[in-house]
Amino acid sequence: MKPDLSCKPIIRTWKLHKAFGPHEVLKAVNLDIPETSIYVIIGQSGTGKSVLFKTIMGMIPPDGGKVWFRDTELSALSPDALMAIRKSFGYAFQNAALFDSMTVEENLAFPLKEVLRLKDREAIRQRVAELLAWIELPGIGSRRPDTLSGGMRKRVGVARALILRPQVVFFDEPTTGLDPVLSETIHKLVVRVRRELGITCVLITHDIPAAFRIADKIAFLDQGSIIAEGSPGEIARSDHALVQAFMRISFAGRTRERGL
Ligand SMILES: Nc1ncnc2c1ncn2[C@@H]1O[C@H](COP(=O)(O)OP(=O)(O)OP(=O)(O)O)[C@@H](O)[C@H]1O
Ligand SMILES: [Mg+2]
Repeated sequence: MKPDLSCKPIIRTWKLHKAFGPHEVLKAVNLDIPETSIYVIIGQSGTGKSVLFKTIMGMIPPDGGKVWFRDTELSALSPDALMAIRKSFGYAFQNAALFDSMTVEENLAFPLKEVLRLKDREAIRQRVAELLAWIELPGIGSRRPDTLSGGMRKRVGVARALILRPQVVFFDEPTTGLDPVLSETIHKLVVRVRRELGITCVLITHDIPAAFRIADKIAFLDQGSIIAEGSPGEIARSDHALVQAFMRISFAGRTRERGL
């Protein structure tokens, strides 16, 4: 499924602002995320990418500005209404954040029981099995997360982000700590989430070559402001010195890794 990049955005932020005490982390961030796109946010460490995700999802209240999900202004909702609409969002945490005291199946069933209040054990079991098959890890439901490899844990983290059939999934550095081959399997999974499930994918990554391969649009965040935004081609042609330097270093690193 190809996104219509000219259509109304599924997520929009307008002059989004967030400070922690005197530290201004987000400064008037304007974003338009097209429906069913893969939208990638890049930028240096500590520049506000994760805070941006959490502010869009309503996990952190903004100090100023607005966030829309389709026609609904999230920043104007009551906490209960916001909680209800958050079911439309999936979030794959940087470290997978699975409960090691539970099996994989229990981890995936948790949002179905706690958020959707599902009681039908067979329906829950089926949904979990279907999703484990979809991430190509059938039969691991009875394993505990701490017995899985890093790559498997990340896939289960993605499955948990999908369990409530969201319309948008936010991936916060889903490949951190993985080798290049495993990273590639996660990026392919992101592409399948969009193509096979029609879900909008918003991704933070430090893997710049991968961002250029899979993104429809890329936004470059620097010290809380978007300094470049556009298709991979447009970002590559950006004349912003920091964007150019960041890309030069990222692509040089990849060339060295391959021994070229
Ligand atoms: N709850 C909080 N209270 C105070 N400061 C915070 C809080 N959350 C984040 N910050 C600060 O906001 C800044 C941006 O953090 P953020 O986690 O968004 O960076 P990032 O761009 O995601 O970095 P990385 O690439 O390393 O994950 C950092 O200086 C961080 O210390
Ligand atoms: Mg982060």
